[in-house]
Amino acid sequence: MDKILNYVKENNNRYIEELKDFIRIPTISTSSDYKKDMNRGAKFVSEKLKEAGLKKVKIIKTEGHSLVYGEWLKAEGKPTVLIYGHYDVQPVDPLELWDSPPFEPVIKDGKIWARGANDNKGQVYVHIKSVEAYLQNIGSLPVNVKFLIEGEEEIGSSSLSAFLKNNHELLSCDAVLISDTSLYGEGIPTINYGLRGLCYMEIELTGPNRDLHSGSFGGSVANPINELAKLIAKLQRPDGKITIPNFYKDVKNPTKKEKDNFAKLKFSNRKYAKELNVKELYGEKGYSTLERLWTRPSLDCNGIIGGYTEKGAKTVLPSKAAAKISMRLVPDQDPKTIAREFSKYVKSIAPKSVKIEVREMHGGYPVVIPLENKYLKAAEKATSKAFGKKTVFTREGGSIPIVVEFVKQLNAPAILMGLGLDTDNIHSPNEHFSLKSFELGILSSIYFLNEASGL
Ligand code: BES
Ligand code: MN
Repeated sequence: MDKILNYVKENNNRYIEELKDFIRIPTISTSSDYKKDMNRGAKFVSEKLKEAGLKKVKIIKTEGHSLVYGEWLKAEGKPTVLIYGHYDVQPVDPLELWDSPPFEPVIKDGKIWARGANDNKGQVYVHIKSVEAYLQNIGSLPVNVKFLIEGEEEIGSSSLSAFLKNNHELLSCDAVLISDTSLYGEGIPTINYGLRGLCYMEIELTGPNRDLHSGSFGGSVANPINELAKLIAKLQRPDGKITIPNFYKDVKNPTKKEKDNFAKLKFSNRKYAKELNVKELYGEKGYSTLERLWTRPSLDCNGIIGGYTEKGAKTVLPSKAAAKISMRLVPDQDPKTIAREFSKYVKSIAPKSVKIEVREMHGGYPVVIPLENKYLKAAEKATSKAFGKKTVFTREGGSIPIVVEFVKQLNAPAILMGLGLDTDNIHSPNEHFSLKSFELGILSSIYFLNEASGL
């Protein structure tokens, strides 16, 4: 073990340089403009898996972006760990709010700053380097390992979802190891055992057949932006409850043990509000902030489109307005049912003065891994050893839609060994990732594979 751990220390600088190369490839999956870069991203991952010493490394073409697969299966009789992550990143806009160009990584204050530094390139790279440290030093791994790194996580994982259905044997495993979530706080080893699901909708309202002069017509015909605002406002009551019929019907409450655990975690509403620069927090009445984030569904408008948004004033009564609305879901809410209920409800409350169209975007199921799971316990030990502290168990407010499909179809627990911080600005300007977390993550991964070997 010492040899492996020393290797990680000695090679840390090279690891970071390689991670920078990875980050420099603008693998934005949403826009077809980056198709070439997506291919370069997949190629980079496959090269690094090969260099680490994995076998049967291949780039698997799909209808969308490629998957990268690699394996090392010589630990006979030992469990198999499937390591999952994504090489695609979110778009970078608004560009003007970045302190340095998003795809030119900068090291500052012990952190690496760039799009993808945390989500998910930095966290994926941890595991590639952990496996490299084993294979380049002792020529073997304590367990069988499969890597599956995809390019569509940020857009709903549809190609992987299709691939998974037809490749249960290739991907069969005893546990899925994923670092794509957060630590509870800086330096606090954390295992996440739950993710919220997602239902993402788009509403479009159409009023008059063309943009109108707001003086000649204002007050005589419905303004789709005004109506959209009223409609959005009706989706939530002042106490934070969501008004869609049957919305809470399938919500399962956390167990007493979970609630006790949450209550034991150090948390300050005041600090949380201060860090976000808000005077007061907002949320569903009767629940703590952690309960709201981890065990309760939420509804947020992600964007509104319509009317005149350039500098200065233009008097116009627009013809159209649209909103993108996402709902985070908890067990046992079903994104398909929620999409139906949402659609029915908004159509029923939209006034006759506008036409309404409701579209379903991507979605994903929520997941909770039973706390008694032995791989979770192994991950607890591993992270605690790496960080030198007691590991905490948390759930996560974000979503990784493919996780539930892994759990159900491969019949394996997902071990969410999150290494980011909620303050790392993922999906925002100035995304970053702590280099300390990068290093401790590699150690956590090394220890986990070792612990898993005894299960
Ligand atoms: N890494 C995130 C998931 C996450 C979010 C973890 C917040 C911890 C905190 C993941 O890459 C992600 O952003 N997922 C999307 C999924 C969606 C696009 C289907 C999300 O949660 O919005
Ligand atoms: Mn993300």
